[in-house]
Amino acid sequence: MMSGDRLSPTRRLALGALVLVAAAVGFAAGRFLLRPAGSAPQPIAFNHLLHVEEVGMECATCHEHFASGEHAGLPGIDLCLTCHEEPMTESPEERRLIELAGIDPSPAFIKLFRMPDHVYYSHRRHTVVAGLECSTCHGPIASTTAPPQAALVRITMQMCIDCHEKNDVTGDCSACHR
Ligand code: HEC
Ligand code: HEC
Ligand code: HEC
Ligand code: HEC
Ligand code: HEC
Repeated sequence: MMSGDRLSPTRRLALGALVLVAAAVGFAAGRFLLRPAGSAPQPIAFNHLLHVEEVGMECATCHEHFASGEHAGLPGIDLCLTCHEEPMTESPEERRLIELAGIDPSPAFIKLFRMPDHVYYSHRRHTVVAGLECSTCHGPIASTTAPPQAALVRITMQMCIDCHEKNDVTGDCSACHR
């Protein structure tokens, strides 16, 4: 029988682990509740089509590094607030954006297109030097009205190599794996 006044080290460990799991679940649930139902794992249901077509914004305003570096980058909520500090619409999503920014100034948008660490890829090389359209690799992201659940295109090694072959670009393993 257990004595009750003393916990064995293994039971203490087990209890400790349980507390950690409960905290993690609580945290995850909290994050989940902040999200609008049915949307992607993003803090705000951002609408590309509206901002690109109707507001007329350039990709570079929000993905500011594609022309200069390896990564294009995702905007922070602070950038959204340059226009949305005061509500411009009746949209509940916009109200949520402003509220969320008041609670936590840095809820981050999550990156969906991602390469493993062993792959070297440069946006500058492909968009500025090679002059490729964003949609070649990212599909119709600019016409989405809510964040997609997953990357719209699965970028594979074969996809990189096929285009390189067509354009007489190197197929050396070490060009892409550094
Ligand atoms: C007002 C800011 C804004 C503008 C303008 C904008 N985007 Fe975005 N973009 C975002 C946000 C926020 C996300 C993350 C949420 C989402 O996927 O909708 C994102 C996500 C993306 C992603 C997915 C990145 C990833 O790995 O998850 C791509 C690709 C992208 N945008 C391309 C474009 C292109 C191409 C244009 C121009 C035609 C553009 N964006 C214009 C804000 C913007
Ligand atoms: C250059 C100014 C500007 C920036 C920067 C900007 N927006 Fe907007 N946004 C607008 C305008 C203008 C409207 C629509 C106005 C209308 O419909 O009359 C709008 C509408 C919205 C709406 C309401 C419509 C809807 O889709 O529900 C949301 C939400 C929104 N934006 C989120 C964002 C987010 C998130 C960012 C940052 C990633 C952002 N905006 C950055 C100008 C901007
Ligand atoms: C030749 C294919 C290709 C083209 C063209 C391309 N991208 Fe990407 N993009 C990628 C890859 C691959 C990743 C993932 C990179 C990583 O994780 O290292 C990515 C990631 C992104 C991301 C996520 C954040 C980041 O910087 O990693 C954004 C945003 C993005 N691209 C925007 C753009 C925009 C805007 C354009 C057009 C100006 C564009 N991309 C053109 C292949 C491409
Ligand atoms: C749609 C065509 C296309 C796709 C897809 C593409 N590339 Fe490229 N890539 C090019 C072109 C064209 C160049 C040559 C640009 C120049 O003139 O320097 C290039 C150049 C490169 C270089 C520099 C090569 C050198 O000579 O050193 C690397 C590295 C590279 N790409 C990696 C990738 C990776 C990684 C992917 C997949 C994630 C990819 N590329 C997908 C067209 C493409
Ligand atoms: C033009 C760019 C490019 C070239 C050239 C290239 N790779 Fe890759 N490779 C990639 C990308 C992008 C990925 C990650 C996406 C994927 O797994 O399809 C990858 C993934 C891999 C992986 C991991 C697969 C996995 O399941 O995780 C291996 C192993 C690999 N490459 C080996 C090679 C070898 C060996 C060569 C030379 C014969 C080579 N690669 C040439 C772009 C390239």
